[in-house]
Amino acid sequence: MEKLWTPLILVNLKTYKEGTGKRALDLAKKAEKARDKTDVCIGIAPQYTDLATIAKSVSIPVFAQHIDPIRPGSSTGHVLAEAVKEAGAIGSIINHSEMRLKLADIDAAITRLKELDLIPVACTNNPKVSVSTAALEPDYIAIEPPELIGTGIPVSKAKPEVITETAKLVRQVNPKTTILCGAGITKGDDVSAAIRLGAKGVLVASGVVKAKDPYQVLLNFAQAASRL
Ligand code: G3P
Repeated sequence: MEKLWTPLILVNLKTYKEGTGKRALDLAKKAEKARDKTDVCIGIAPQYTDLATIAKSVSIPVFAQHIDPIRPGSSTGHVLAEAVKEAGAIGSIINHSEMRLKLADIDAAITRLKELDLIPVACTNNPKVSVSTAALEPDYIAIEPPELIGTGIPVSKAKPEVITETAKLVRQVNPKTTILCGAGITKGDDVSAAIRLGAKGVLVASGVVKAKDPYQVLLNFAQAASRL
């Protein structure tokens, strides 16, 4: 891969009703419009069932929400990296707080993604776990204190030390890994604060997916990121 996008605003649609099926596609188009207006990269991580439709309908990067560290064969119900790639994903979130993996499986999932030229975005819950994960060389680490997820209380304001500490420690272990942060991000100010603290972008869900006007929120995020 040539280069990673920074800043990156990655929108995880999770399993929200507002981010499922046609509404997922609608959100992806709004994200694309906000990207076109600002030139800040906005990626989207829909459910597996929406990956192919979205990937062929928009030109923004599309990520899976998870893959399993398996190879093609007999793994009923698991998610194969080859399958998300063929559906149009260019990478995958792994180890989200809502889909945690053992360290050995994070390692194997990162390896599987890289074998296929897919971009791993590995989530972590604190600076110490970020350091262990950085040693596995994912392209992105997204630090998200689980207790702030979905609260509207932004990590960049409630726990700034989590971002600064992660940025400092990860840089020592693996300066090539790009750091994102997430949890409770709802405003442009939260995004600017995150970037000032050392993150290169944000991983966000409810602040966009459940917003009255997701386009305006994404535009605010992207404008805040582009000002720095
Ligand atoms: O993956 C993003 C996430 O867990 C943060 O969620 O709703 O606090 O933006 P939210």
